[in-house]
Amino acid sequence: MTDKNKQSASGGENKEEGLTEVLTEETKFYYPSAAMKENATVKDWDEAIHVAESDPEAFWAEAAEDLEWAEKWKKVLDDSKKPFYKWFVGSKCNIFQNALERHQKTAVKDKIAIISEQEGGRIQKLTYSELYQEVNKFAAALKKLGITKGDRVAVYLPNIPETAITMLACAKLGAIHSVVYAGFSYLALRDRINDAGAKLLVTANASQRRGKIVNLKKTCDKAVEEDCLSIEYMIVVKNVDQETIMKEGRDLWFKNITQNEKENVETEIVDGNDPLFVLYTSGTTSKPKGVVHDHAGYMVGVNRTFKWVFDLKEDDVYWCTADPGWITGHSYIIYGPLMAGITNIMYEGVPDYPENDRIWEMIERHKITILYTAPTLVRLMMKYGDEPPKKHNLATLRLLGSVGEPINPEAWRWFYRVIGQEKCPIMDTWWQTETGMFMITPLPVAALKAGSATRPFPSIKASIVDKKGQRVPVGKGGFLAINNPWPAMLNTLWRNPERYLETYWEKIPNVYTTGDMGFVDKDGYFWIQGRADDVMNISGHRIGTAEIESALVSHEAVVEAGVIGKPHPIKGESAKGFVILKKGFEPSDELIDALKKHIRNTLGPIAIVDEVEFVDKLPKTRSGKIMRRVLKAKELGLPLGDISTLED
Ligand code: WTA
Repeated sequence: MTDKNKQSASGGENKEEGLTEVLTEETKFYYPSAAMKENATVKDWDEAIHVAESDPEAFWAEAAEDLEWAEKWKKVLDDSKKPFYKWFVGSKCNIFQNALERHQKTAVKDKIAIISEQEGGRIQKLTYSELYQEVNKFAAALKKLGITKGDRVAVYLPNIPETAITMLACAKLGAIHSVVYAGFSYLALRDRINDAGAKLLVTANASQRRGKIVNLKKTCDKAVEEDCLSIEYMIVVKNVDQETIMKEGRDLWFKNITQNEKENVETEIVDGNDPLFVLYTSGTTSKPKGVVHDHAGYMVGVNRTFKWVFDLKEDDVYWCTADPGWITGHSYIIYGPLMAGITNIMYEGVPDYPENDRIWEMIERHKITILYTAPTLVRLMMKYGDEPPKKHNLATLRLLGSVGEPINPEAWRWFYRVIGQEKCPIMDTWWQTETGMFMITPLPVAALKAGSATRPFPSIKASIVDKKGQRVPVGKGGFLAINNPWPAMLNTLWRNPERYLETYWEKIPNVYTTGDMGFVDKDGYFWIQGRADDVMNISGHRIGTAEIESALVSHEAVVEAGVIGKPHPIKGESAKGFVILKKGFEPSDELIDALKKHIRNTLGPIAIVDEVEFVDKLPKTRSGKIMRRVLKAKELGLPLGDISTLED
């Protein structure tokens, strides 16, 4: 690493001073309908919380009985090496048994598992039995290519059935999938492949997005050619009809290796605590963290939260608008819905193309009953007004969900009134890549408040604390912490247990640090206000300021850079970069464009920087860390706060 990279990779100062007096709080309650209360699986929210709280282990042991195990656990929770907690210790299982295998013995096998739709209109339907067969074929093909238990398989695919097939085939073999969102650049993909040491990469030749064709294979070629030594094979799904260059000996068409496959592959029964996947997420340095989840605890946590929070019924048609490349997709597009045996939509495209009512048109056409989406999408749709949804019959919807960032009360109310027609409760689910499952969320029978994720899921203890770990009074802002372990919690960070300890358990004593800020109101409802660390949340996607800074300083014209997130009406946050130029480079609009393009090439289209400003100096602490807090306060015209550590 060069010196200039060190500057930004070290991360900024901690926003430890960030405790604030909280200003707003919505007090109106929205109550569930009588029908909702009558039909709900969990009828009494308070009671459910009370029961789980009195004996969390018994609660989760009971939840685990809903699933199939090759051998049951000897112990529900082992905390002897905390915070390396282990759930369902001594169990033997495979999440694949629960996601697909067990359905083959019931009527679920003939149900539609996945309805996939491409932006251009192509629709494909797979029943649970067809999906099972496809996974088996691909698992057999992977096996022939030498993939066995514990091997890492990198996945760079759009939101199509092959993504589910690949993830499940890995699980079936006991291999570890590492899905990289297909909007990341080749460099980001390369780093993730190298960190995980993946042997094989599964991709598609291309994807469709807003009428354009995105060449994914080309990105993968560049990533792999840029010294990904561990990759032996690249498997390519022909997703779009177009010319694709395949490399002899390395590249294989997905279809060619699966279509004649006859072998019946045994599901690898793994130890419940064996890893199921690694998923990289942004942190406060420029190096992403490989979050590791296992089979046992993850499947129990995801299954119970999914069924309870969305109050699933057999005939539900469910649409989560996230991408499988994020944790929301892992838990609540792939594993949760399949374990529950419901019908799931996978849509490869954007919700407002070719017309701005595409999303509502799809809800009507597929008779969708549950829509789980993100505040950024709600705000985008709100911008188009009430007409687009009013053109469609949305009466099949019975429940709505939100995830990814705080939903502002105005967007919440629009979603509730116009989309939910005042009869669909909104499940505002707070959780993270690391938590694996919903943590703070209402149940459908809860009294809701617009903009609050309400209370912790039964058995979870959450609190708002100061930096010493002391609870702060009601209404006061502070750090959101989790006080007790939960089954779908991350096991560690891939090959970096020290960073696991340091990031989540050592910043604030005795609790799991979420990195978020918020407050609790007088009714015990949580209001999450955003990140406390140097991570931005742009359109519900986590991206570190340090990652963008590192990309900026890798440009030949840049000496130093500081990046901040600014409030944005649709995206929630947008990024602004403050840049010090090297001698010999002059500020210009062309250079701004070049820098924006450079960031896009380095990190991918998810890292869009809206503004770049050239400066002579950046505010720094005496130890040389950029004080992003000061940059932000200046930019937004807010008080500078404590600047005693400011060097100049
Ligand atoms: C934010 C996504 C407020 C939060 C599942 C968290 C939310 C980060 C909510 C995790 C919500 C997620 N209300 N903020 N309902 N859901 N967040 O890892 O800052 O991509 O720490 O997981 O998103 O993002 P991640």
